[in-house]
Amino acid sequence: MVQELTIAMPKGRIFQDAAKLLRQAGIELPADFEDSRKLIITAENCSIHFILAKPVDVPTYVEYGVADMGIAGKDVMMEEQRDVYEVLDLGISACHMAVAGLPESKRYPVTYKVATKYPKTAAQYFRQKGEQVEVITLNGSIELAPLVGLADCIVDIVSTGRTLKENGLVETEKISDITSRLIVNPVSYRLKKIEIDQLIGKLTEVVKENTYGMDQKSGSAVLK
Ligand code: PRP
Repeated sequence: MVQELTIAMPKGRIFQDAAKLLRQAGIELPADFEDSRKLIITAENCSIHFILAKPVDVPTYVEYGVADMGIAGKDVMMEEQRDVYEVLDLGISACHMAVAGLPESKRYPVTYKVATKYPKTAAQYFRQKGEQVEVITLNGSIELAPLVGLADCIVDIVSTGRTLKENGLVETEKISDITSRLIVNPVSYRLKKIEIDQLIGKLTEVVKENTYGMDQKSGSAVLK
């Protein structure tokens, strides 16, 4: 008997490329998959259900086992440190995590302030460098913080670099490259190994065959 799978999908910037990968892997998604407001959607040709979650919540759904698998950015994985298997680098939504600030703020105070939506990642990065920082957690528009004096610098993801540029900020340190990952709940992997391995196999083939190019409009790397 074929077992049903539930996959947690991140709404937002990763979603389109992730949907494209799934279609390439032979999963028939409803035509309005990308535009629908529904939060639970079922594939048309197989027993796969999708739950559409906020990107940062995807590893939580997978860790608790309500989703057997998920697609999550490496940035979220580093920050969330959830008990899940990271089984495949999907190569989509490539960007990087960096430190950035105003060009004139080369010299920071002894303990300087870092604004970010990745507090654990930022704290660990500066701790490893032996630098004392105060981490201020924000939920978005991180680039605003140095502009209004809330922080001396930021730790955030940079994709096209446009947000930094348009706000007069410069990147000072690269922390790590980021792509989206396929993740699996450890118990699901034991109980539904055949179905999960099959999907990992198909997606591995798709990832190998895919090429990435530059989207003329956004300037970021996209699937061709
Ligand atoms: C992300 C990130 C940067 C921006 C980088 O924010 O936090 O602000 O995108 O992209 P860019 O280099 O292409 O300009 P997001 O759009 O997810 O919104 P947020 O500010 O609400 O987090």
